[in-house]
Amino acid sequence: MDIKVPRGTQDILPSETEKWQRVEELIRETCRMYQYKEIRTPIFEHTELFTRSVGDTTDIVQKEMYTFQDRGDRSLTLRPEGTASVVRSFVEHKMFGYADQPVKLFYMGPMFRYERQQAGRYRQFVQFGIEAIGSADPAIDAEVISLAMSVYQKAGLKKLKLVINSLGDTESRVAHREALVNHFEPHIDAFCSDCQNRLKKNPLRILDCKVDRNNPLLASAPSLADFLNEESSAYFEKVKEYLTLLNIPFEVDPNLVRGLDYYNHTAFEIMSAAEGFGAITTLAGGGRYNGLVQELGGPDSPGIGFAMSIERLLLAIEAEKNEWSDLSTLDAYIIGMGEAAKKKAVELTNELRLNNISTEMDYLDRKVKTQMKSADRLNAKYVLVIGDDELEKECVMLKNLSTGEQQLIPWNKLIEQLKNSMKA
Ligand code: HAM
Repeated sequence: MDIKVPRGTQDILPSETEKWQRVEELIRETCRMYQYKEIRTPIFEHTELFTRSVGDTTDIVQKEMYTFQDRGDRSLTLRPEGTASVVRSFVEHKMFGYADQPVKLFYMGPMFRYERQQAGRYRQFVQFGIEAIGSADPAIDAEVISLAMSVYQKAGLKKLKLVINSLGDTESRVAHREALVNHFEPHIDAFCSDCQNRLKKNPLRILDCKVDRNNPLLASAPSLADFLNEESSAYFEKVKEYLTLLNIPFEVDPNLVRGLDYYNHTAFEIMSAAEGFGAITTLAGGGRYNGLVQELGGPDSPGIGFAMSIERLLLAIEAEKNEWSDLSTLDAYIIGMGEAAKKKAVELTNELRLNNISTEMDYLDRKVKTQMKSADRLNAKYVLVIGDDELEKECVMLKNLSTGEQQLIPWNKLIEQLKNSMKA
């Protein structure tokens, strides 16, 4: 039998895991700086959680969920995103009663969507996301966006584009919705059956239909921007002011609607503008969801957040070819020539490792030249050679592989010397 990984999933192999770990560390560190605390929720939830929050007319709920009945005949779903679970947990654990508001949370873990597999789109992918719940201050919208941007910037990405829009409050959305129904209704027979259903239930979803996306009626549809009431426009203006204050460049795209139903007011996406990134350029997406806590049984508590997949972040790093593209490095590789030198090599390897200097040596008794090649492949910063001569002098020959410089170092000065030159 020839069993492979399921379509849309992947093994993350040892040559890649170091990049994943570094990116995960960078994310955790950034969350510490911004004071977002980690929350871990189950991988599966009651299906109803997603139909009620993400929305039952969305592609995610209609076409992409991994839903199953468990042995107790409950309908459960592998989480397709993280916001619904975090808000459920916020309500369930009465976090709205915490002394410090807003409650600022982050999560990182696998999500599942039955989507068509292509570069950057998987059926299991890892999302990092944050949620700030309990504040309707436009300054926190800017904070959330700034955290996302800073993760990308710290990962060395330069070719980024931030696109924002306002989806308005309920009043603005109701007015826009009515205009959309009037716009599409006379021609709805030309649309796919999903859109025909969406017309009365949720006409905004027609705007991001993958089947009808080339229908000219989409481009001529009434824009939400024309229906924003005063309060919504004022809120959006403040978000833009704060972004400007933080020196975060942005573009306003009135057609940005997002594929989930819980959004209102601020919506945003961050794209990669790197050449060769591929067809899917969205790295992260998010927005405000002021009614969601109430929808899931809590008080009227406003929220905002975003999510990004680690897979797309790594693809963007790959496309920009920066210093994060090859992170696997080794401090020292020790070559012992001959039986006695090998013993010393084993001893020194151990000593260096105990002093936090990552060290490797040969365990196959290979020729010196082959060991040198290994050191190169492993990206070693230094090679330490011990031959008869060095044994006699109680020294090693230390070679800096980037400069080619060599010097003889006494064993008892080795750690100090290595640490100093690694700092320089
Ligand atoms: P979303 O736009 O559905 O929003 O997904 C956010 C990000 O997850 C995308 O921009 C992309 O990086 C990644 N992503 C989504 N689907 C896939 C896939 N099939 N393969 C690889 N990466 C993928 C949400 O999920 C919202 N919960 C975000 C949010 C948080 N809004 C408020 N708070």
